[in-house]
Amino acid sequence: MAAVIEGIGAWLPPRIVTNDDLCTTLDSTHEWIETRTGISERRMVSEGMSTRDLAVEAGVRALKSAGAATVDAVVLATTSFDRLCPAVAPEVAHLLGLGTVPAFDLTSACSGFLYGLATSGGLIASGVADRVLFIGAEAFTTLVNPEDRGTAPIFGDGAGAVVLRRGDADEPGALGVFDLGSDGARADLLAIPAGGSRQRSASAGLGHDTVPVEDWYLRMEGRPLFQQAVERMAESSRGVLDRTGWSVADVDWFVGHQANVRIVNAVADELELARDRVAVNIGRVGNTLAASVPLLLNDIAHTGALRPGHRVLLSAFGAGLSWGSTVLTWPDIPVEAVR
Ligand code: UT7
Repeated sequence: MAAVIEGIGAWLPPRIVTNDDLCTTLDSTHEWIETRTGISERRMVSEGMSTRDLAVEAGVRALKSAGAATVDAVVLATTSFDRLCPAVAPEVAHLLGLGTVPAFDLTSACSGFLYGLATSGGLIASGVADRVLFIGAEAFTTLVNPEDRGTAPIFGDGAGAVVLRRGDADEPGALGVFDLGSDGARADLLAIPAGGSRQRSASAGLGHDTVPVEDWYLRMEGRPLFQQAVERMAESSRGVLDRTGWSVADVDWFVGHQANVRIVNAVADELELARDRVAVNIGRVGNTLAASVPLLLNDIAHTGALRPGHRVLLSAFGAGLSWGSTVLTWPDIPVEAVR
């Protein structure tokens, strides 16, 4: 028994923000951003649009790709919730017309898609569900300080989704072994300090806010994160390849989390993987956290670069710290373009 991908879909909000657009208010340049990150433009949600809306659009497309009208559960990976409470997934399930199925959110930042694949596969393995809609959706640009040049150029909004069904381990689309890990000792390298139980607004009833405004925004230490990202993704990738019995030469596509093109290339170099097998779309989408891997899969499958039967290595790394990798053989499923 295995969880098998039977549909994929993705969606980007229509608002395109170029590096030049950002640099009208940010102390940076298009050249710096593109050279240091590989990003030229990203999408951002407009006023009134939230993670829920992105998730629904990606969900519709994944269900269509799978030819599925119903699922037994909805799992949503996000680190940019619509509200602190409740989870986004139940509302997404409702809006997709999926009724009262079990639905919950999972928070694992940029490795959310890998953690979510493993969790969704687990729902199938445990008999809770035969078919799961799993979505990674993020409106994370709403949590980034637009005046912080260290973080504002990096992130983008978007969503990607897959439908998983119960199947056999030797079928195309079957999820392989997983390597997942975390390092909470480095939790502060990428964090939004306020809004949770540790540092919450005390303004209610007091007439003033005790939390400094910058604590509501993302804080990131780029350099140590860069190094951790390369180390952890390379090690985790090697782990799943070894356990699967694949050599690096067996990998047709490395689909790594798009945090920085230099990170993805450095992981490929560590693995001694040729650059023409490294999938990249960060240039037009930026870092979309849990949506990054499915958006990239959707992109390369739609162009025909990723074909049925290709062997794919997926790997991601992010806040927590947390990371994860898995492998699969790409299935023959319809894929719509993401505009
Ligand atoms: O999603 C998973 C988690 N996130 C990551 O994995 C992010 C990993 N880190 C990175 O991608 C990179 O560290 C960044 C893109 C965030 C930064 O690139 P970097 O090459 O590590 O730059 P840096 O932070 O070491 O800064 C180099 C210089 C500094 O100037 P000085 O001190 O050398 O004079 C910065 O002040 O570049 C400056 N700088 C900028 N200059 C223009 C930093 N950000 C900018 C900017 N525009 N936006």
